[in-house]
Amino acid sequence: MTSAVSSAASAASVGPSASWPGASAPVIELHGVRKVYRTGSLEVAALRGISLSIALGEYVAIMGPSGSGKSTLMHILGALDVPSSGHYRLAGDDVSQMSEEQLAEVRNRRIGFVFQSFNLLSSLSAWRNVELPLCYAGVARPERRERAVAALARVGLADRVEHRPGELSGGQQQRVAVARALVSDPALILADEPTGNLDSASTEDVLGLFAALHEAGSTIVLITHEPDVAQAAGRVVRVRDGQIADDSGPAPAGASPRPIAGKSGGHR
Ligand SMILES: Nc1ncnc2c1ncn2[C@@H]1O[C@H](COP(=O)(O)OP(=O)(O)OP(=O)(O)O)[C@@H](O)[C@H]1O
Ligand SMILES: [Mg+2]
Repeated sequence: MTSAVSSAASAASVGPSASWPGASAPVIELHGVRKVYRTGSLEVAALRGISLSIALGEYVAIMGPSGSGKSTLMHILGALDVPSSGHYRLAGDDVSQMSEEQLAEVRNRRIGFVFQSFNLLSSLSAWRNVELPLCYAGVARPERRERAVAALARVGLADRVEHRPGELSGGQQQRVAVARALVSDPALILADEPTGNLDSASTEDVLGLFAALHEAGSTIVLITHEPDVAQAAGRVVRVRDGQIADDSGPAPAGASPRPIAGKSGGHR
């Protein structure tokens, strides 16, 4: 095991920033990352030399036209896929050098994922969906339930723990997905168009949750098509044709993300 991963494994869940090892290194460091997909004889260069550094505690929005490579980039950031060439260091550790076991550990405990389509299991109640990352991490059942219920309470769904996804509104389902992403106290939260299927009130809710997580020390990288949503982040990175077209750079030290419509952290 590399030092960062082994120390991550032994770190207690004491809060997002404290649980991320290698605090002096950027959380994310990409250098010259390329990704080529091969389908039959056709090659698509989805990423064409991305270099990007994201520090602990930053809140970054990734924007760009459809097909520009945003989801591909997110998959690489989440260690769900590997670059064709170039380097990716996660909290100082070269992801290409990690074993499958270490990658699974990173994905389960260090990173929380939120997707546009929620990706909840329809047959399971809200708390059972939320406990899933803890099952994979081998946490005992009573603790899993306790932590899942606490995570649902954090997203304002304490009274919906036994509801199944089909018995919840779209906004509530996405809040369950956010609870699932944060139940393992990840230091890095990756969200691919998390508000893409939500109405404006639910969008506000979910952005309020991200703002609260950011304030608590999480590093958040969020893909969005919506300028309003991007405005909530301290930094906007624009991708075009697999390259970074513009990067507003890190927010000034101490700057808070901008709440949407004057709202931060509230839910109904
Ligand atoms: N698994 C795959 N196999 C082959 N090509 C792929 C694959 N995934 C993505 N691509 C191609 O790579 C390019 C970038 O796709 P990607 O999904 O990263 O775009 P995106 O910016 O997320 O777009 P959108 O805003 O529509 O979600 C596209 O041209 C796409 O067709
Ligand atoms: Mg996409």
